[in-house]
Amino acid sequence: MPESKKTKASKSKKRIRVLVLGSGGREHALVWKISQSPQVEKVFCIPGNAGIAEIAQCADVPLDDFEKIVSFVKENDITLTVVGPESPLSAGIADYFQAKGLRVFGPSKKGARLECSKIFAKKFMKKHGIPTADFEVFDKHESAIAYIDKVNGDLSLEKYSIIKADGLCAGKGVVVAQDLFEVKDTLQKMMVDKIFGDAGSRVIIEEKITGEEASIMAFCDGKTVSIMAPSQDHKRIFENDKGPNTGGMGAYAPAPVVSKDILARAKKEIFDNFVRGLKKEKIDFRGVIYAGIMVTKDCGMKVLEFNVRFGDPETQCVLPLLETDIIDVINAVIDGKLSKLKVKWGKKSCICVVIASQGYPGKYEAGKRINGLEEIAALKNIAVFHAGTALNNGLVVTAGGRVLGITGWDADLQSAINKTYIALKEIYFDGMQLRKDIGMKGLRHAK
Ligand code: AMP
Ligand code: GLY
Repeated sequence: MPESKKTKASKSKKRIRVLVLGSGGREHALVWKISQSPQVEKVFCIPGNAGIAEIAQCADVPLDDFEKIVSFVKENDITLTVVGPESPLSAGIADYFQAKGLRVFGPSKKGARLECSKIFAKKFMKKHGIPTADFEVFDKHESAIAYIDKVNGDLSLEKYSIIKADGLCAGKGVVVAQDLFEVKDTLQKMMVDKIFGDAGSRVIIEEKITGEEASIMAFCDGKTVSIMAPSQDHKRIFENDKGPNTGGMGAYAPAPVVSKDILARAKKEIFDNFVRGLKKEKIDFRGVIYAGIMVTKDCGMKVLEFNVRFGDPETQCVLPLLETDIIDVINAVIDGKLSKLKVKWGKKSCICVVIASQGYPGKYEAGKRINGLEEIAALKNIAVFHAGTALNNGLVVTAGGRVLGITGWDADLQSAINKTYIALKEIYFDGMQLRKDIGMKGLRHAK
């Protein structure tokens, strides 16, 4: 088609309405990116937050009430729904939408098991040749203890110090035990005391591997994957990766620990095997597959976990680098046409620094007034993604542990770091905490 006709045709195409499900920084980044598409007329979000409400129409519908969500979609003439968090996926929202003839971005319930059952994921990896740490599965406490007593003595603690509950445990289901006492104590708590309920009745005992962690997300239409800019999360609350785990205190992309060589190996060993596995097991997977990997000292690579959705905070620093219209990517994924689309990524670096409430990841107070949002909004190449925020009498206040993701991009990582840390000086709320070393690992690699 001649260019002029093509432009006319796309201009005359009806612009669409899109719904995003979720309420975190990840969803704000998705809504922000989707609303930039010339193909989009309006964005909706369920339930959203104070920041999302500035660019999308938010609605309070429970995420587990699929019938109500579908009614909302029909009432508002929504063409496309993008699912943020894992729980509606694991409850089968994609299957539900498809059965009603609605377009949805996110894997089937069977596909979501790759995140929601760690045992399913480990067995899938083993079966399809995806590199991962050695492991054993137990559904009886006595057998787990008998195994530990057997291996203790002829193996070092490294071989069995990772204990993982099978099901979703709000990010608390993995214990890296320091000694034999902690191994046994964890097994007791998960399998006998049932601190995670049913999610902990089956466990994995896994070999400990050391190295540097990275996140590789990829779009997947079930047949092809298209890998996004690799990134690195900062899971601990304090600088230099000290203190307890959080939902993520910041991220940056691209992460140089994922060298060209590691990326090529990941494509072959992780993602090609992954789609082969999907095909063999007849899993409908149209969404994002996220591999949390460990790059080991000998430049090997192993998968620690799969997630079946966009990562958070990774998405906040990856989507600003996406140059292809995200609606074209989402449509290609849903229609199984990803192999026909060249997804383009910018050459810049991007970092996201999370600002959290005092006390997080433990107990924290909400309702603190957030200052400086207007000032920071005026800055170029900076985006402020809201996570735990709410409106109180027209003012934006804190409403969660992780509150804001201050995201900045520039020509290289050092410039992106400088720009973002200068920008976030505009923001103030009582008790706010943040890490001052987001992205520093990447700088060490560049040296
Ligand atoms: P997961 O939810 O499986 O990614 O585990 C959470 C965290 O536990 C990871 O981000 C790692 O820091 C750590 N972890 C998980 N598996 C291993 C392993 N086999 N060896 C060392 N650390 C691990
Ligand atoms: N950043 C880790 C996750 O999204 O699960």
